[in-house]
Amino acid sequence: MEEESHILVKPKVNSSDDDDDIEESTSTSTSQQPQSPTRRRTTAVIITLTILFVIIGAILAAGAYDTRANSSQPDDTRLSSIKATRSIKAVCAVTHDPPTCVTDLTTLDSTNLYDPELIFNLTLSRALTELVRISTLPKTLISKSTDLRAGSALRDCVSLFDDAVSQLSQAIEAMKSGEDGRILNEEKVGDLKTWISSAMSDQETCTDGLEEMGSSDLEEVKMKVKVSSEFMSDCLAVLDNLEKILNLFGKKLH
Ligand SMILES: *[C@@H]1O[C@H](CO)[C@@H](O)[C@H](O)[C@H]1NC(C)=O
Repeated sequence: MEEESHILVKPKVNSSDDDDDIEESTSTSTSQQPQSPTRRRTTAVIITLTILFVIIGAILAAGAYDTRANSSQPDDTRLSSIKATRSIKAVCAVTHDPPTCVTDLTTLDSTNLYDPELIFNLTLSRALTELVRISTLPKTLISKSTDLRAGSALRDCVSLFDDAVSQLSQAIEAMKSGEDGRILNEEKVGDLKTWISSAMSDQETCTDGLEEMGSSDLEEVKMKVKVSSEFMSDCLAVLDNLEKILNLFGKKLH
């Protein structure tokens, strides 16, 4: 029992020694506390400030880079859009309705084209789109018509419109092939004029036929054909004035 109690006591002493140690170490650290946290706080503030400066610096640098990148990009875009607007205006000036032409072509010009030849291509696209849009009209009218004589004139119109579409498509096709950016030469301009004129006269032949047969659909067809014909005659006007327009931009027909 004695032994046991001794043993029991001994650890107690030991543990109390430990406690003393701890207390001592705590007290030593307590005695240092007034200095250490201040230093630690100062260090923390310095580190925080440094990090802040680095972050702010990075943000400012990125901002400056961004501003430069952003300001140069719109400048380029603005410049090419100004150039594109100039060519569109020059091309549209020879058409029957310049303001509408400018609006239409600006809508079609998604990539800021400023080569008058490419702008001409837009007038051609506009003409083909309109022609294709109205080209189903004769078929629609045939399905409604009870007038036999007018019906035969309408059937002529179906094939005339088919031909007109294929003429203009040929013109569009010719605008696709260009060696090293050159699309038009005098010969091609001549071909384009021929195809466009043929498409125009197809439409005229159609309305003439309807008139001859006294078709009640004449007015509707004439009205629709009018816009399409105007777009095509715009294309011809641009081709007729192409040399002059190109000269404005210091260019020549190849
Ligand atoms: C002309 O326009 C047509 C679309 O109508 C396009 O496929 C063709 O590539 C254009 N030509 C040029 C040279 O951009």
